[in-house]
Amino acid sequence: MSLRKLPLQVNGLTLPNRLVMAPLASARATEEGLVTDDLIEFYRARTEEGALGLVVLEHAYVLPRGQAKARQLSIAGDRTVEGLKRLVETVHRSGTPIFAQINYAGSFSDGADRLSASAVVNPRRKDGPVPGEITEAEIAEVVAAFAAAAFRAKAAGFDGVEVHAAHGYLLSQFLSPLTNRRRDGYGGALENRLRLHRETVRAVRQAVGAAYPLALRLGACDDLEGGLTEEEGIRAAALLAGEGIDLLDISGGMSGYLRPGRTEPGYYGEIAAAVRRRAGLPVILTGGVTSGAEAEALLQKETADLIGVGRAFLRDAHWAKRALEA
Ligand SMILES: Cc1cc2nc3c(=O)[nH]c(=O)nc-3n(C[C@H](O)[C@H](O)[C@H](O)COP(=O)(O)O)c2cc1C
Repeated sequence: MSLRKLPLQVNGLTLPNRLVMAPLASARATEEGLVTDDLIEFYRARTEEGALGLVVLEHAYVLPRGQAKARQLSIAGDRTVEGLKRLVETVHRSGTPIFAQINYAGSFSDGADRLSASAVVNPRRKDGPVPGEITEAEIAEVVAAFAAAAFRAKAAGFDGVEVHAAHGYLLSQFLSPLTNRRRDGYGGALENRLRLHRETVRAVRQAVGAAYPLALRLGACDDLEGGLTEEEGIRAAALLAGEGIDLLDISGGMSGYLRPGRTEPGYYGEIAAAVRRRAGLPVILTGGVTSGAEAEALLQKETADLIGVGRAFLRDAHWAKRALEA
């Protein structure tokens, strides 16, 4: 495999190469989560050269209550679609495909109204209050909101949608044994802790139809004592692969997107490679890549199908072009 000019087909969509701009929350939306010119400019500058295979847009909240931070992007109402359309059109001018990323923060939120799988403080928010345990009726509202958000993403012209199930947000909170102590059908065995993921994916699929790319970003390990193990994360990915996802994006859970003691390029590499073999779906690997040569080496070793890059784009808007040229 090669970074350059090797397209990948994802449910009818052609990604022109294997380089992905990973989601980067930029806090550039309005207070109500609407797209601003500043936000559009951030993505225009990073995609104008047409060097990327895919952009996954920063996370957008599916319900006001599920907002993570101030000035986070919203996809929680039909009013958001117009601005998102302008953003998509700007990125499309370079021929770059773009996915929306949809999220519900739960207990990893700055807001006052926090819910989680169980009334347990989020390991990523140790100073926060104890969240309320979400009821089954509230879970159904969250699932419906994910589906409505995905429908809006499609209406706005996004080429696909990614469900955010990583980095300690609500879906991560259900999957991690550290934060899920439920005794109902959403707690206990791994299959149960994945029930919200399955319900979300099914509802999203129903909202967008069969012929629309659907990705899931999985927090595949917690790197914390008593947390989700790598083995469980790999098994979770294989279980989810049977639910009609087209692409798995591998990252961390309750430790966020960084791994304690690991900084090498592709620091979730063993998990991504195992998921790729076991789940039989294309995999995005993100974390620690700072050069085109590093990305290329990971592709050559068949660690993943696509390489995501995040922070390098904060340092250099033209990173993708430079990486491909080097
Ligand atoms: C400022 C910042 C914002 C981020 N926002 C998101 C986000 O909205 N959604 C998400 O899934 N990951 C988010 N991430 C994680 C990145 O997508 C990526 O996984 C992480 O930066 C590791 O990759 P890197 O080593 O190439 O930076 C964010 C990371 C940073 C540094």
